[in-house]
Amino acid sequence: MPQKSNANLHKANKAKNDEFYTQYPDIQKEINAYLEYNPDVFRDKTILLPCDDPERSNFTKFFAQNFEPFWIKKLISTSFANESKIYKDDYKPTDFETQSPKFDKEKTNIKWKIYVLDHDTNQNWKIDVDDLEREYLEWDWDFRSDEVKKLRDEADIIITNPPFSLFREFVAWIMEANKKFVIIGNQNAITYKEIFPLIKENKVWLWVTMDSSNRWFQVPDSFTEFHKIENGKKYAFVAWPVRFTNLDHWRRHKPLPLMTMADNVKFNKNKEIQEHWYQKYDNYDAIEVSNVNAIPSDYDWIMWVPISFLRKYCPEQFEIIWLAPERLSEKESSLQIKRYINAIQHKADWTTCSWNKVNDWPVIVHDKIPNKFPYYTSETVQNKYLEVLYARILIRHKK
Ligand SMILES: C[S@@+](CC[C@H](N)C(=O)[O-])C[C@H]1O[C@@H](n2cnc3c(N)ncnc32)[C@H](O)[C@@H]1O
Repeated sequence: MPQKSNANLHKANKAKNDEFYTQYPDIQKEINAYLEYNPDVFRDKTILLPCDDPERSNFTKFFAQNFEPFWIKKLISTSFANESKIYKDDYKPTDFETQSPKFDKEKTNIKWKIYVLDHDTNQNWKIDVDDLEREYLEWDWDFRSDEVKKLRDEADIIITNPPFSLFREFVAWIMEANKKFVIIGNQNAITYKEIFPLIKENKVWLWVTMDSSNRWFQVPDSFTEFHKIENGKKYAFVAWPVRFTNLDHWRRHKPLPLMTMADNVKFNKNKEIQEHWYQKYDNYDAIEVSNVNAIPSDYDWIMWVPISFLRKYCPEQFEIIWLAPERLSEKESSLQIKRYINAIQHKADWTTCSWNKVNDWPVIVHDKIPNKFPYYTSETVQNKYLEVLYARILIRHKK
């Protein structure tokens, strides 16, 4: 049936994004930042690297190589069985695995692998990547299986780039066990209703390194869609990977340098600020700050800022109130000062439809038709035109 095959194709395409592998320098740069802040962050800790492929994973390689320098107690790395993957690679065990005393040719393709490092197995007076012990798990299902849950419960810190398609489930899985973690997701994940409340409550924050270099991920050799080949390896570009953690680091305690509103208007080169000053929303008691660099130091009520604010968020400096367009909580509902009745959306092809969702978004009101589509009208604001802004975070200065 065509419908079914489309659904399968879609599933397989989505699963391809689950096979993006993190590069060694990106891991190194980020982990070094935690160590700079707290040199003992990994001391005597059990680290679990789930959703990995220990033979190929740079996470496994990096932590195994640094087992002694970081004073790690135990490193556990596990991989999803190749056969269980929706997107299956041309599978061939590595030489490391085939040479391991526990190698099992029946199990290698169909079972989860577990690699453990906690002592000097080859008696060369150091513990490193050559001491990894390779085994198979009995279970071949996913990270939510009882067997992997047990490993999670044993761990102090969980570090990985989990499958993008199961990101929500993965975060819930970590949070229910109350573990420390460092994981990679994408920018959309910030707005998930399972994730944003954790960010708001300062239980989760973003990683330290956020530069453009760490947007390249290695993909399997069999991928036909990729963005570049370097030294024979294929790479895909991810526009906005976002890294989430609850390990502390210096950047979140570094306040943003700010200017007053008046100084911003004088000196800030941001076009929106130059052209519109700080606009007040028509429907919320707050101002629009279209650029994080233009957050004023002297406005002590609610400001709506772009989501990129989270990269600079310092909890000692700001309080996060909410995320638009999520419905405001009862506690914050007084911020909404107007609701539009019978709102109409006007599209670029001049068709219209009713769109009462406008009430959940921050709105700027215009006397003339705005020069971008769609725009909105409503009987609440006669002869006016509404412009809906992008998703915004509501913040205010900490008192
Ligand atoms: C985005 S890749 C990242 C791999 C590695 N952690 C890294 O960063 O290089 C996610 C891995 O999780 C595996 N995976 C997919 N679904 C899974 C599941 N339900 N349980 C565990 N692992 C899964 C994928 O096959 C893939 O190998």
